[in-house]
Amino acid sequence: MKVAVIRKEHFNAAHRLHNQNLSDEVNAKLYDKCNSPNYHGHNYVLEVKVVGEINIETGYVMDMKLLKDLIWDKALNKFDHKNLNLDTEEFRNLIPTAENIAVVVYNLVRPHIDAKHELFIRLQETDKNIVEYPVNA
Ligand code: NI
Repeated sequence: MKVAVIRKEHFNAAHRLHNQNLSDEVNAKLYDKCNSPNYHGHNYVLEVKVVGEINIETGYVMDMKLLKDLIWDKALNKFDHKNLNLDTEEFRNLIPTAENIAVVVYNLVRPHIDAKHELFIRLQETDKNIVEYPVNA
């Protein structure tokens, strides 16, 4: 009997979406306001879902306090209140779209989750734009 537990966290970060291999005109069209040269911020909502069996001793799938701590220690402390393009190694050469942020967070957190558990990342950049990784189809 598998159960999913979900931890929700909030963080703020600045970014600029810009592909150096494309012209300024194409970038402006492709990324619209997120191409703004002087950066801008988002209030991100991150949901980390862990799926697994309930541990008979604890009654938990995973201790949510431990999950919270590792989300922050391994991922969000790198990004919260930072400029993703300028302040982070992860996005120095990677366009900080919500898609890429979700994959990066997954890859940072995954090694620290028990291998028998499944992990899913859901990232909300705005009320209307949400991405998920991996795809739970
Ligand atoms: Ni943006």
